[in-house]
Amino acid sequence: MKLNNKVAIVTGAAAGMGEAIAKEFAKEGAKVVVNYSRSSQEAEAIVDEITKDGGEAIAVKADVSKSEDVKQMIEKTIDKFGKIDILVNNAGILDDYTPVVDTSEELWNRIIGVNLKGPFLCSKYAIPYMLKEKKGVIINLSSIAGFVSGGGGAAYTSSKHGVIGLTKQIAYDYGKLGIRANAICPGAIKTRMTEEILKNDDAPVMEAIKSVPAGRYGYPEEIAKLALFLASDDSDFIHGTPILIDGGWVAR
Ligand SMILES: NC(=O)c1ccc[n+]([C@@H]2O[C@H](COP(=O)([O-])OP(=O)(O)OC[C@H]3O[C@@H](n4cnc5c(N)ncnc54)[C@H](OP(=O)(O)O)[C@@H]3O)[C@@H](O)[C@H]2O)c1
Repeated sequence: MKLNNKVAIVTGAAAGMGEAIAKEFAKEGAKVVVNYSRSSQEAEAIVDEITKDGGEAIAVKADVSKSEDVKQMIEKTIDKFGKIDILVNNAGILDDYTPVVDTSEELWNRIIGVNLKGPFLCSKYAIPYMLKEKKGVIINLSSIAGFVSGGGGAAYTSSKHGVIGLTKQIAYDYGKLGIRANAICPGAIKTRMTEEILKNDDAPVMEAIKSVPAGRYGYPEEIAKLALFLASDDSDFIHGTPILIDGGWVAR
């Protein structure tokens, strides 16, 4: 198993890619903190599933945009498992493709709060524990919207570009101290975030999806496999890199 006895926090793990990553990590021997902000039943069900399969997990409620919540999540992880080896900053929300003029300050603050301040806060409070172990891995979920326009609106695209910057800076500041940080940049993936969009075959985004070299959207399990690679020692020489997993969206 590639993550035997590792302790991993996965934010936003009650659904979508976070759920797939939490399950994949548990299957590979990691003890997993399944973070959620609202979906407690879903999070508990994932913990039950992991436990039934012989793994170890706990569900921890925390809004990643709030520092007090994040501090408590980190403390609960340390109380339960004693260390933090892996942090996956996955929690994220979409801005319904809102252009800048129509983006309210409230929407801007909400999107940046969860998508960019969230990874900042979780990293800020998890890294000191990784430094104690002289080893740690941070995986941030960015997006094709971290590379190009059109994958979200003004706030979402800004947040996902910011996530790549944060990833590079963490790698630069802490790489020599044993911490690796990388970003996963998915294209269109079938999850709760995109289910309404993907239901409508006539939606403009469907045309874009069909035109990618892969000719399809992706699945959370495909993202989880990349997350496992980045979390394991197999990727030991990969630092500060945004990795596209987009069916060729950005290459078009
Ligand atoms: N789906 C795509 O096509 C796509 C493409 C590129 C990048 N991404 C990125 O990939 C990541 C995962 O997306 P997904 O498609 O799997 O989304 P999803 O199915 O909507 O799941 C998002 C998760 O984030 C959690 N969450 C939302 N706000 C939170 C907060 N303030 N604190 C803690 N958790 C919070 C939600 O849990 P609660 O219900 O408990 O709040 C939910 O479990 C996101 O960062 C997204 O931006 C998605």
